[in-house]
Amino acid sequence: MARLYDSRKRILVTGGAGFLGSHLIDKLLAQGHDILCADNLFTGTKRNLEHLHNHPRFEFLRHDVTFPLYVEVDEIYNLACPASPVHYQHDPVQTTKTSVHGAINMLGLAKRLKCRIFQASTSEVYGDPSVHPQREDYWGNVNPVGPRSCYDEGKRCAETLFFDYCRQFGLAIKVARIFNTYGPRMHPADGRVVSNFLIQALKGEPITVYGDGSQTRSFCYVDDLVDGIVKVMESPDGFTGPVNLGNPDEFTIRELADRVIAETKSRSKIETRPLPCDDPKQRQPDISLAKSALGWWPKVPLEEGLKETIGYFRALLAAETRAKGE
Ligand SMILES: NC(=O)c1ccc[n+]([C@@H]2O[C@H](COP(=O)([O-])OP(=O)(O)OC[C@H]3O[C@@H](n4cnc5c(N)ncnc54)[C@H](O)[C@@H]3O)[C@@H](O)[C@H]2O)c1
Repeated sequence: MARLYDSRKRILVTGGAGFLGSHLIDKLLAQGHDILCADNLFTGTKRNLEHLHNHPRFEFLRHDVTFPLYVEVDEIYNLACPASPVHYQHDPVQTTKTSVHGAINMLGLAKRLKCRIFQASTSEVYGDPSVHPQREDYWGNVNPVGPRSCYDEGKRCAETLFFDYCRQFGLAIKVARIFNTYGPRMHPADGRVVSNFLIQALKGEPITVYGDGSQTRSFCYVDDLVDGIVKVMESPDGFTGPVNLGNPDEFTIRELADRVIAETKSRSKIETRPLPCDDPKQRQPDISLAKSALGWWPKVPLEEGLKETIGYFRALLAAETRAKGE
């Protein structure tokens, strides 16, 4: 039930102990809202929320979204889901359950509360795209039976559920397709390209490039992405998405490796490895819709975002070294 006595919202963020979720919570708290974070800590960590210990408007609930949740809130951001291939392939059945049962449970909650609900979808719904850059009206090229399918198809099914709840029950849904994002609080062992390269460079280990490194990616800094997520949630009634959120500046993986080496002043050398199964060759968002409908586009250049992220990983590695010495 909506509160009558103040305009501050009670907001549920699932997956809030993760990389994106914890930054989203910081932003929503800064806007003055009350936050309930529900997370099973599968890939997230309490360290990401440490600074909110004793915050009067923040509450943490250890909860798995594959089970129903009965709480009273005014808005729901559904981010719970492991996002990196090493994590989502660790228990693929649980990954599909998290996307599909998690969506059903959160949509059921939103239906009962008659509240807005945001879904963190992904550029992976486009699979290995045959059109470039990807617009929202491209239906994708996804392998339904490969090792990445638990994530890709789980997220596609979640989108279907969101749109069916909207059509069937008139639910106010907001769906964003998030492209590669990086920044502080990324999991250091998540196997994603930015964290991999940064850790390798900072440790002076070889930088492992899969394939010949000519495959391209676009990288969005987390602050830009979180601004976009909130803009999607605050968009006018009737705007459902799906809308792409990402940075269209495209780099080859090789270029990224070179920049990381330069920014960290590392002596690491580049080593090549075979390309993993179903690895997309190109990925670049078309963000025309986000620009026209939301007035959103990314502002932080790669060098600036890398500097912040390098600072975070340097501090993390130093803390690990200190802990080993104690
Ligand atoms: N980071 C990116 O580049 C990116 C790109 C596309 C989409 N996304 C989506 O954004 C969301 C957040 O991604 P992230 O990068 O912060 O990943 P993350 O792994 O850091 O965070 C995911 C969070 O969800 C939690 N979680 C996982 N399964 C759960 C379950 N069953 N119940 C409750 N909590 C659960 C984890 O413990 C973690 O805290 C995900 O839905 C992901 O698919 C992220």
